[in-house]
Amino acid sequence: MSESIPAAPSGQRPRGAAYDSVFLRAARHEPVPHTPVWFMRQAGRSLPEYLKVREGIPMLESCMRPELVKEITLQPVRRHKVDAAIFFSDIVVPLKAVGIDVDIKAGVGPVIADPIRTRADLQRLRPLEPDDMPYITEAVGLLVAELGATPLIGFAGAPFTLASYLVEGGPSRSYENTKAMMYGEPELWAELVDRLADITSAFLKIQIEAGASAIQLFDSWAGALAPDEYRRSVLPASTKVFDAVAPYQVPRIHFGVNTGELLGLMGQAGADIVGVDWRVPLNVAADRVGPGKGLQGNLDPAVLYAPTHVVETKAREVLHAAQALGGSGHIFNLGHGVMPTMDPDALTRLVAFVHEASAR
Ligand code: CP3
Repeated sequence: MSESIPAAPSGQRPRGAAYDSVFLRAARHEPVPHTPVWFMRQAGRSLPEYLKVREGIPMLESCMRPELVKEITLQPVRRHKVDAAIFFSDIVVPLKAVGIDVDIKAGVGPVIADPIRTRADLQRLRPLEPDDMPYITEAVGLLVAELGATPLIGFAGAPFTLASYLVEGGPSRSYENTKAMMYGEPELWAELVDRLADITSAFLKIQIEAGASAIQLFDSWAGALAPDEYRRSVLPASTKVFDAVAPYQVPRIHFGVNTGELLGLMGQAGADIVGVDWRVPLNVAADRVGPGKGLQGNLDPAVLYAPTHVVETKAREVLHAAQALGGSGHIFNLGHGVMPTMDPDALTRLVAFVHEASAR
């Protein structure tokens, strides 16, 4: 890591039990015995054990129960033997914590009761304080103790993706209200994403302070923007988030879907590792992101519905393309999240295959 990074606010942080894990070594571009692998949305509806423990508990409520969060986060680690756990929560949990009326509707996604469209609406987005989320600190603490040498990835939604839900009021295909504000009221937009940058930074800090050893910033829907617009309207806010967590010196991953044209800028925002969807081969992504950064990805999730030998051929293609990075700095993942109808056994087999095929 660069020596220009200032010391963590709490002084020299002790190296956690996961420091020498394959995942964190790869993230630091150190030699690894095999390529590490985890899956976005690895915890969730593809797992029968998840459906069982979630029965009758609304999504957002489940995120506030530390024992349940611990159990759900551990489920895919136990089952698939992935190299990292991702904290079970949601990108809208910090919005709920500052008082936004948000719900997650099954099969739909986050729905906001009163969308944020005006300057007056902005007042509802107050800063996030650590005391707003005692359940997050508790859940991360429980998890880190139980995970031992397996790293825990903390995460948050990036300002643009969060803004898209807040302004549209829910999921969207074309982001017309969001873009209307971005193009038509640039000052209001800048203030909105700046407030969101602060909330997101606070959410990530809470997770890191409690023991998360890497973070991922999800700008899932940033691919809706042209590079110039991203640079002007989104990059400053996302950069603010990466800068805010830089002092902790944990690897920072930045991911979005359909972001082939944005990969360079998403790296510039301050990521150590850029997540790539399946549309851009990793050797091409490496050129776009530039030297010194790692890559995460990027098997097309839908490949998992094909026969095993096809999954393995396609996974091997990903590993080969990653050799452009020079043998380290690659974290294997899907190009987007696990889908609810996926066969969990296919995912378990894929983890074993990636470990075997990349052994060195
Ligand atoms: O396993 C993990 O990856 C950790 C948990 C996690 C969830 N959401 C749990 C969840 C993570 C990292 C997220 C991030 C998230 N949430 C993103 C970024 C990742 C991405 O997919 O691009 C986004 C855009 C959201 C918003 C959101 N929350 C959506 C679109 C949905 C799906 C709606 C649906 O029902 O299909 C949710 C709900 C959600 N978040 C579920 C889970 C497991 C499903 C709800 C349920 O199980 O009842």
